[in-house]
Amino acid sequence: MDEIYFFAPTKIYFRRNGIENYLPLVKNYGKKVLIVSGKNFIYKSGLFEKIKNIFEKEKIDFSIFSNVKPEPDVENVEEGTEFCEKENCDLIVAIGGGSALDVGKCIALRVKNQGNLRDYFGEANLKNQPLPIIAVPTTCGTGSEVTRYAVIIDEKEKTKKTVASEKIIPVLAILDPDVLDFLPPKLIGATGMDAFSHSVESYLATTSDYMSKLFAIESLKLLYENLKRAVEGDKQAKEKIFLASTFAGYAINRTGTIIVHGIGYSLTIKYGIHHGTANALFLPYILEFMKENKYEKEIEELENIICRTSELKNFIIKLGLPIKLREIGAKQQDIEELVELSIKGCERAMKRMKFNLTKQDFYRIINHAY
Ligand SMILES: [Fe+2]
Repeated sequence: MDEIYFFAPTKIYFRRNGIENYLPLVKNYGKKVLIVSGKNFIYKSGLFEKIKNIFEKEKIDFSIFSNVKPEPDVENVEEGTEFCEKENCDLIVAIGGGSALDVGKCIALRVKNQGNLRDYFGEANLKNQPLPIIAVPTTCGTGSEVTRYAVIIDEKEKTKKTVASEKIIPVLAILDPDVLDFLPPKLIGATGMDAFSHSVESYLATTSDYMSKLFAIESLKLLYENLKRAVEGDKQAKEKIFLASTFAGYAINRTGTIIVHGIGYSLTIKYGIHHGTANALFLPYILEFMKENKYEKEIEELENIICRTSELKNFIIKLGLPIKLREIGAKQQDIEELVELSIKGCERAMKRMKFNLTKQDFYRIINHAY
């Protein structure tokens, strides 16, 4: 058997009412909390009120940085870092989707390590241990609550970049499925498809091993069986996809993602398309391409777990997500730029592929999706 590596230091609590029950634990990790979140969901959902009450009751001092952008960039992280320093916070409670969790991780890193976030892209060489990070995900896709990654837009280079370090893995994650009650169906589908992509890509990555596949397979089974029902509002199905997204997080924590994410980034950079929606749109075309190019055996294994690649589009359509570039308003003349952005987005991913895609390959996939 091939070598296995597994490192999962996050203490996980998964239950309804989990926030009331487990958020008080944050006092074990520091003196003053910085809540890191976006500016809408936390207030509209009533989550902020709930958290404020818990912190007041437990006499936990806190500040809030609720300025995380939907697609955060380096500047956004640096702004949060300054705020954290000004407020003298010594632990991070990141609440939200992948953006809030990843910005929380980067603030934790930057407060303790000099320079600029750009100095830490790639495998980050961190002199100092970041602040403790507590993750409270409110979407069912990111998996960031258990991973060593934070993905941030480098606005200078017009691409998404990853900070990778085991030192930014959250110490504690509270998975409270109640939060999904406030998530619009479209975002359940989109973030669920992000998790779906994580598991598919992890399974196909050359870095996968027995344990990462275990998580990828279980996550795919849960997602394939439950995602549509979750989008329709079924509470038990939502619980299952919430768990599936964490399982997918364990899978990519070992392997990283491959070209679905790398190509998907192009739509987020060019049109601001939601990350999960972008991945879902390209996924069927990329799997078709890979099946014809050196991945026949692996794709067949995946088809035995989920469905035939040709049926995948139908599954995605039923979630209310687009599966053609035209549907999101892309123009034929944009394809050249999407190819360039995809090549840039796939730089890291290419190391986990059996072969290097040529520019022509990117054209083929993107044209096909058009
Ligand atoms: Fe993702």
